[in-house]
Amino acid sequence: MSTAHCVERAVVTGAAGFIGSHLVDALLQRGTTVLGVDRRSPRDNAMAAENLASALGRPGFRLVQGDLVTDEIKPWVDGADAVFHLAAIPGVRPSWGDSFGEYVACNVLATQRLLDACVSCSVPRLVLASSSSVYGDATGKGPLHEECLTAPLSPYGVTKLAAERLALAYALAPASPTSVVALRYFTVYGPRQRQDMAIGRMLRAVRTGQPLRLYGDGRQRRDFTYVADAVAATAAAATAEATAEAVNVGGGDSVSVLDVLSRIAEITGAEVPVHGDTHQPGDVQVTEADLTKARELLGYEPSVTLAEGIRRQWRSLSVVAPDDTYGSKESR
Ligand code: NAD
Ligand code: UGA
Repeated sequence: MSTAHCVERAVVTGAAGFIGSHLVDALLQRGTTVLGVDRRSPRDNAMAAENLASALGRPGFRLVQGDLVTDEIKPWVDGADAVFHLAAIPGVRPSWGDSFGEYVACNVLATQRLLDACVSCSVPRLVLASSSSVYGDATGKGPLHEECLTAPLSPYGVTKLAAERLALAYALAPASPTSVVALRYFTVYGPRQRQDMAIGRMLRAVRTGQPLRLYGDGRQRRDFTYVADAVAATAAAATAEATAEAVNVGGGDSVSVLDVLSRIAEITGAEVPVHGDTHQPGDVQVTEADLTKARELLGYEPSVTLAEGIRRQWRSLSVVAPDDTYGSKESR
């Protein structure tokens, strides 16, 4: 077992993204010096600018625009106490067909290149953003624990499982200087949520009147996780006693999409306009996390209920961009 005892200097890949930018804010808040790496820059990407608005200009934060698939990585990670690897192409549904090459490059190859750099620079801890999608469907299985079968049902899930296994293999190699905690996040939501994700789309549908496309019958269930809880688990993973571990990070309750629609109606005072659409390939019916290991290893406890998390996300909606909701490739 090894521990990265103190995180004075951290690297966050995917820093301009939804979860990455919240992690940056939380680390800066704790006094950690953070180097953010992302191929999107606030200079030319409005989402990145919005996500990093509170971090940019803060002492202790520096952002480099770089691509983990092509750029030299060692200069970024050299001297870091922990690297948080959140960069990836994240969507489940757009991962079929021609886009798969990009998923493989950004989710698998980029992870392998980062791992090589971390080992070369003797970075003591890598925390990797894995995904509930590595499990596939949990229907009839109850909450899934980390030893359960991994059987992803989407190309995206396959790349996340490959990245996770790669990271654990690097950590388990003899005399590896880099230990790994891979966090299997379950459908994260909250302010700054990606444009392609359900809860943000539902809230924007209420604002704009443009219907949500409801995929399938809405009975599919997700273990929705509030972003601050996911971030708390991620920060804790940097110092947890571990050599090579995969850990679930869920919200503590598996809730149907129809249920979320009702809760949003209660919270906003308006029904979500809905347009029925077909079930999407790769969408699993149920996700449900067993949190025993997260509690033991990370001291994790989800603290924000779905109703409270939705309220916070609703309040955070400032600029409404109706045309962005269903763009090409589900507007990532
Ligand atoms: P996001 O798209 O908002 O953030 C990912 C960031 O990675 C983006 O800013 C993107 O520009 C960057 N990136 C992608 N490829 C890159 C590359 N080659 N080089 C440098 N930067 C690159 O996604 P998110 O929702 O914040 O997800 C963060 C991580 O968590 C991802 O690894 C995702 O697979 C994982 N995850 C997310 C969820 C969720 O519900 N949001 C659930 C499970 C797992
Ligand atoms: C989310 C993230 O997008 C993935 O990056 C992540 O890996 C995955 O969680 C995970 O937990 O591993 P998903 O569960 O599909 O994927 O999250 P949402 O996009 O918020 O969708 C939730 C449900 O709402 C899905 O069943 C989806 O079919 C449905 N949905 C979504 C709609 O009916 N309409 C929409 O417009 C969007």
